[in-house]
Amino acid sequence: MNSACAAGKADVVVGIQWGDEGKGRIVDYLASGYDIVARFGGGDNAGHTIRLGDRTLALRIVPSGVLNPDCELFVGGGTVVSLAGLLAELDALRAIGVDIGRVRISDRAHIVFPYHAAADRASEAARGAAAIGTTGRGIGPAYVDKVARAGITFGDLHRREVVADRIRMNLLGRPRSSAEMPTEEDTIAQTLEAAERIAPHVVDGVAYIHDALENGRKVLIEGAQGTLLDVGYGTYPFVTSSHTLAGGACTGLGIGPTAIGRVIGVVKAYATRVGAGPFPSELDDERGERLRRQGVEFGTVTGRPRRCGWFDAVAARYAVQLNGLSSAAVTKLDVLSGFERVGIVTGYRLNGLPVGFGSAACSGLEVEVEEIEGWSDDISGVRRIGDLPPAARAYVKRLEGLLGVPVERVSLGAERSELAS
Ligand code: GDP
Ligand code: IMO
Ligand code: MG
Repeated sequence: MNSACAAGKADVVVGIQWGDEGKGRIVDYLASGYDIVARFGGGDNAGHTIRLGDRTLALRIVPSGVLNPDCELFVGGGTVVSLAGLLAELDALRAIGVDIGRVRISDRAHIVFPYHAAADRASEAARGAAAIGTTGRGIGPAYVDKVARAGITFGDLHRREVVADRIRMNLLGRPRSSAEMPTEEDTIAQTLEAAERIAPHVVDGVAYIHDALENGRKVLIEGAQGTLLDVGYGTYPFVTSSHTLAGGACTGLGIGPTAIGRVIGVVKAYATRVGAGPFPSELDDERGERLRRQGVEFGTVTGRPRRCGWFDAVAARYAVQLNGLSSAAVTKLDVLSGFERVGIVTGYRLNGLPVGFGSAACSGLEVEVEEIEGWSDDISGVRRIGDLPPAARAYVKRLEGLLGVPVERVSLGAERSELAS
């Protein structure tokens, strides 16, 4: 049974590493206990994979409650969303029989335009060897326009003249950088055409979420990216451009901290990162290769191989604090089956002295690795944490001790039912 949230409160699911922890998979599992699943930040830089039976979906914007027919799906005001990307996702969902009338988008969400994606790619090229390794979707430039008060929101879409004027203004000083990039007038025409199709989904986002909470509807909030990619507290500048922490759910949906119930952290049983930046527990050897192979660690959005390493307890403790976690869900434990010994990074040292996650980017950083006995059993059929083989159970217990919050669920496969609690 899923435990659903307290009356008037929304529960939050966030990733506590560098993204791709399996948030979508956990949200899909939990969603049956909720009426609404809501995204609060990011855009189609996210790729959330859910699997039910033979059906696998990789969602970018639409929340991962989509395969729960009774859930409404809300894209909150803190997101930045490409019109073409959203329409393509809605079309693909409709084609497999999903009722897309359940999808609502806040009038406060900002639009990502093709010129944002072009600017993202140009800025990455200009950085050369110092590139961040973005998804190239225009997320950073769209948030820049939002903060610079030059953005265009979903709520603006019905004001055709305003949209056209603002696009013209935004394109001043942004010369067309490639033949694929639409011209100014094409951008305006495409936006206004998309606006007609999107209009039925646009709602007053603040009224929507508050009406829901006041009427006792159960809300599950789905984070995107991961804690260590947060623009304020992640491994800056190798981060995304939004607040990915649980606190971002408040500003991203327009609710106060008192409206938050439980905060559930999704924790991959090892660590991965896609893109550049510090990764103290990274394994540049056969063990890292093996994690990539067994965990099929290739990006959902870009197909890039993910960098792999051991679970990092220093990073995880930092993330527990930043999010105020109530509990954790550990994912991909099955991927560790067959390793003779499994490592956990338990400490960082610099010049021989213990240091915290804030030193993750320092050159000369050394990591302390604790090795735990592995297991070779196929654990994908286990449904109770207590039924795991002793070594796997001991590993989960060790993670729980290091995190300092209860591990309530352990995922052992990508399919919805492959989970122990
Ligand atoms: P998200 O961005 O946090 O939603 O995670 P992604 O969907 O990008 O990446 C997680 C990947 O691991 C997806 O391919 C999932 O299907 C897969 N996955 C999730 N949980 C498990 C699990 O417990 N075991 C295995 N083997 N795969 C999993
Ligand atoms: P989900 O929700 C993993 C990473 C990119 C890059 C950095 C900045 O699926 O966990 P951006 O395009 O956001 O400007 O890129 O952030 N990144 C992710 N990595 N999972 C994600 O989302 C990510 N979203 C962004 O790889 O390093
Ligand atoms: Mg992902």
